[in-house]
Amino acid sequence: MLSEDQIKAALRAVKYPGFSRDVVSFGLVKQVGISGGKVSVVMALTSANADAARQIQAESEQVICALPGVSDAHVEVQQPGTPQAGGTGTNPWAQQGRVPGIRKIIAVASGKGGVGKSTVSVNLACALKHLGSRVGLLDCDIYGPSIPLMMGIREKPTISDDDKMVPPVNYGVRLMSMGFLVDGDQPVIWRGPMIMKTIQQFFSAVDWGELDYLLVDLPPGTGDAQLSLCQTVPLDGGVIVTTPQEASLGVVRKGIGMFQKVNVPILGIVENMSYFTTPGGERVEIFGHGGGRAEAVRQGVEFLGEVALFQEIREGGDGGQPVVVTGPETAPGQAFINIAKRLMSPTA
Ligand SMILES: Nc1ncnc2c1ncn2[C@@H]1O[C@H](COP(=O)(O)OP(=O)(O)O)[C@@H](O)[C@H]1O
Ligand SMILES: [Mg+2]
Repeated sequence: MLSEDQIKAALRAVKYPGFSRDVVSFGLVKQVGISGGKVSVVMALTSANADAARQIQAESEQVICALPGVSDAHVEVQQPGTPQAGGTGTNPWAQQGRVPGIRKIIAVASGKGGVGKSTVSVNLACALKHLGSRVGLLDCDIYGPSIPLMMGIREKPTISDDDKMVPPVNYGVRLMSMGFLVDGDQPVIWRGPMIMKTIQQFFSAVDWGELDYLLVDLPPGTGDAQLSLCQTVPLDGGVIVTTPQEASLGVVRKGIGMFQKVNVPILGIVENMSYFTTPGGERVEIFGHGGGRAEAVRQGVEFLGEVALFQEIREGGDGGQPVVVTGPETAPGQAFINIAKRLMSPTA
């Protein structure tokens, strides 16, 4: 007798085109029907991609037909239709009306670590707050959850009467972090399903209250792990942080590709560490300059702004006092506030 488990086990051999993850672990399999030797499977893609759908269908039918006892296999791969009115694409969450109480969820991504993704997330969160928005910050960086430190938050979430986690707050920004859930010094080996479950709980089991913006600091990179995070988190938009020298290396394109796969609109590019100003006022472009803007133009996405190298930015990060909070009127503070303004503009 054929079983659903057997069919799913066989389908694990079918990878999503271009990825090392299979269609089952991506959660694409919605329905398995077995009638004698006839097997029918329904899968649903989260983004419209006819080529991927065709390839998945062909490969899936092939592996099912190869199972002993199967006489016929029919695989239907559904693709999202036109976005719903007022919807933001075909991210499955977006269609469900997102998370109650949260108006916009924006992911911040980068090609690799160390380009200032967390610094940008923290300062943008504080800048949005500075501009009058209600803001939350979600640190999804499993490799190095650095945001609690940058936000000067040492306490962990508390538990409310109705058993929800209440995020600690500093500078008016509510924060949840992977870092709250692991023991400070102990390296934890996160496995894929565990990460997904935890991330889902950041929405179902956290009392965010009313938020205008929830910024999500993704782990660095644009691979499978980040992609499945983008599928798990109900995103409304994505921002890509790059340095000038990284911009031209295809990193921005990969970031755009990642968001496009899950139909998350790209809000734009931020170029960080753009240049350095000497005490004498001379501008030194250590990593070259303008790469982020040029790449944004090439890729047809918005350039949200540039942030130069400032000692105050690093010190603010290390000291848990973001520069936007301590010096909103300073040059680095203004750089972040201007980017936040563009994010708030209706076109972004
Ligand atoms: N514009 C900047 N000026 C000065 N230092 C910066 C700037 N952006 C980031 N940094 C510093 O660079 C380091 C890496 O930044 P971080 O935000 O942790 O990167 P990521 O999250 O991409 O790994 C931190 O020490 C941070 O303070
Ligand atoms: Mg980081």
